[in-house]
Formats: sequence, C-alpha cells, structure tokens
Amino acid sequence: LPTLPNSDTASDRASAASLVSAGSCAEGLVVEYPGNFRVHTRAYADRGVFDLEIRRIFETTWIYVAHETEIGEQGKFKTSFIGRQPVIVVRDTEGEIRVLLNRCRHRAAIVCREERGRTDRFQCPYHGWVYALDGRLTGIAQRATGYPDDFDRSALGLMRAPRVDAYRGMIFASLGHAGPSLIEHLGPARAFIDYQFDRSPVGRISLPYQPHRLNYNGNWKFQVENATDAYHVNYVHESFQMLLEQFSSLSGQHGNHPANADNRDYWDRLGKTRGFPSGHGLLEAPATAQLIDGLRRGPEREYYASLERHHGPEAARAAMGQYHLVIYPNLAIIHGQLRIIRPIAVDQTEVTVFPYALEGIPAPQETARLRGYERFFGPAGFGQPDDMAIFGLNQAGLQASAVEWLVLSRGLHTETAGDDGVRVGNATSETPIRSAFRAWQKLMSAG
Ligand code: FES
Ligand SMILES: [Fe+2]
Repeated sequence: LPTLPNSDTASDRASAASLVSAGSCAEGLVVEYPGNFRVHTRAYADRGVFDLEIRRIFETTWIYVAHETEIGEQGKFKTSFIGRQPVIVVRDTEGEIRVLLNRCRHRAAIVCREERGRTDRFQCPYHGWVYALDGRLTGIAQRATGYPDDFDRSALGLMRAPRVDAYRGMIFASLGHAGPSLIEHLGPARAFIDYQFDRSPVGRISLPYQPHRLNYNGNWKFQVENATDAYHVNYVHESFQMLLEQFSSLSGQHGNHPANADNRDYWDRLGKTRGFPSGHGLLEAPATAQLIDGLRRGPEREYYASLERHHGPEAARAAMGQYHLVIYPNLAIIHGQLRIIRPIAVDQTEVTVFPYALEGIPAPQETARLRGYERFFGPAGFGQPDDMAIFGLNQAGLQASAVEWLVLSRGLHTETAGDDGVRVGNATSETPIRSAFRAWQKLMSAG
C-alpha cells in the first residue's frame, strides 16, 4: 500500500482505504496505511455517525451501569444509562440484580426519577402504574373504570436488559441479545482491573463517596482518548508540573500515586501503552524496585505486608504499578476512581467520577488517597478542569471543516502486536486510540 501523504487533497481521499463497510454513514472515516493512521472529522462531529455509534456500540456491547456496593440490599437502586437509554439498576426481592429500562409501559414517562435510593416498588409519577422490583407490572391505577377485566398486564412489565453480568463488583449490562460474554469482552484487559483493585488487601473496592459530575461540549471519544494519553500532560497540566517541580513530594500524593518531580522521566523510561482488540486501552508504568523497597521499610510497611500476605509478592508488586485503564466504551479506571462516560449528543458528554474506597486499607492512607484525588481531579483541582476545557476546544476546532483528517499515527512505526491482538507502544504513543478506532470500525460496520 502506498503511504497516505500528509495533506488533504482529493487524490488522498480517493486513495484512502476505507475500513468501515460500504453503505454505512461511517464508511471511510478511519484509514490506515503503514506509518499513517487517520480519522475523519465526521467521526467526532457528524450526527448520523453519532446515532450509529449509539446503536452499534452502546446498544450492543457491555456498558458499565453500577457497582454492587451501590445496590447492596434488597430494594436499593440507582439510575443510569445505556447509551441514551435510561435504566434502573436494582436488587430485587430474590437478591438478583436487575437492569430495567426506565420507561413506563403506559405512556413512556420515566418511572424512577431519583439518582439512587431504596424502595419496595417503582410507581410511575404520571398515572400511578406500579412495578415490582423485578419489573413486573403489579398495579394499574383505577383499573376497573378503564380497562376490561381480561386486560393482560403480564406483558407490560418494565423491559429488562437481556444480559447483565459483573466483574469484581462492577455491573455491566448489554442490550444485545448475543455477542461476546463479559469475560470475553474484557479479555486481557481484565488483569489491569485486578491489579488496581488488589491495592485493597481483601481485593475489594466500594463506592461510599459522592461522585462529582462534569459536562463538556465535546464528543464522548475525547474523554476515552484522554484517559490513556500521556502526551498531553506537559502542556495541558503545565501548572501542575510546575508545582511538582517546586515542591516535589512535599506536595503530597497525586491521585493514587506518590507525587514527585521525577515523574516525567519515570514515564519516559518505563511507561507503556496498550491497545486491546475490544477497544480497551491502557497507559501503565511498573512499580520500581526503589518504590517497593520504600513500601517494605517505610511507614506503609504493615499495609504492604498485608498485600503480600493476601495476594502474594508478585501480585502485590503488580498492584503498586500505575495504570490508566479504559474499558471501552464508557468506563475508565484511573487513579483510584471509576469514571463513567455518557454520550448525550455528538458534541455533548457527561462524565461522572466516583473516587472509590479500597476496602481494608488503613484509615490514614485512605484519607491521603482522597486528598490526592481532590487535589488533581476535584472540581477545583489542578488537572481535571484543564482536560474538560481541552475537550471543548477539540470540538470547536472540528468546525474548521476544510481540514478533514485528524492525525493519529504517533508511535505507529514502533508499535508491536502480540498473538492475542494486543498492541504495545511507548508511553506517549497513540496506540490505545488506534485500537479503539479499530474496534470502532468493526462494531460500526457490523449488523
Ligand atoms: S405514563 Fe406511566 S402511568 Fe401513565
Ligand atoms: Fe489530563
């Protein structure tokens, strides 16, 4: 194949290899040649493409909807979304987790308006129809004066998501009746969930803290891409880098990690990116021998000893690595937080960030984690507001549509691929973004 030239001429477009099937509105939006990977503006800015993403990605694959600790007891629920579809996640009277479409079967009103709570039934606010925790329609208001005696309500329960499964407490649902199981979907990315949750000696997280919520005027994929992007850090987060340079570790913890000015060098030397066949992505760096030595001898030695006791030395060491993981398409697990990405419109996205608790860790460390989280990721933190501002700039720049292509080839020439389809690049390579787009084009051209 010829190399795609670095310009946007008509002949480039004519020669670009389409990797999305003919006839789809997403056709031709991702092109890949040796050393050259490009994505068209329309992948981020076209309403038709967005609608197709909702149908073919969000309504077929596994979508994170809740954590088990949020619905620990019978009747506890939370409301969430699968793509644009509102759902209720609830534990029913049998202890089963149900994911119900939050739409009254009468005239479509949202049945449950609260974000979370506990109840023994769901009653529609419009005309009072009542649904049991498992979704069955159990009551119709003023039934005798409006419906015949043989009116069949058995088929009018809240519709259920056909597939629900959980991994390490995280509940996922799929509106697709068939397709890979959750375990298959997570694939080799699963290990990087394990490492992060194994920072708890008992291997469990919970969500006891209030989340915070951010909205930005940009496409949902910008948040997905940013979660594993080490390339932007020196520029978008320059003020934070300056703080680290001035105060180093005196400035405390950074999210899940000890803060220090050597951070950049550490990432350059040891950092890696990975892109998974299902679209998941990872930015990672291992725990150094020096860090492990410090944990074994320092003030956190009891805690680290408990990790080694529970998980074994290998897994304890792996747990202390740094991981920024995206579970495609709507979840990121980074710096001790679950970050839920909700596409609202082609240029509008909501992100809900839950700092999670590591069960069984000593209280002072849990507090330090939270303070570190607030410092960088909180609403008034050093980092997160900067990222949100950039996503808005991304979308605004896309309006200059005379330039058609985004260049996503950073690190492509040194990226390697394993037998399992996992691609590996250096820390600032766009490897995870490319894998996400390869999965994107596969999903978008299916069906
Ligand atoms: S819309 Fe729900 S009872 Fe009428
Ligand atoms: Fe950032």
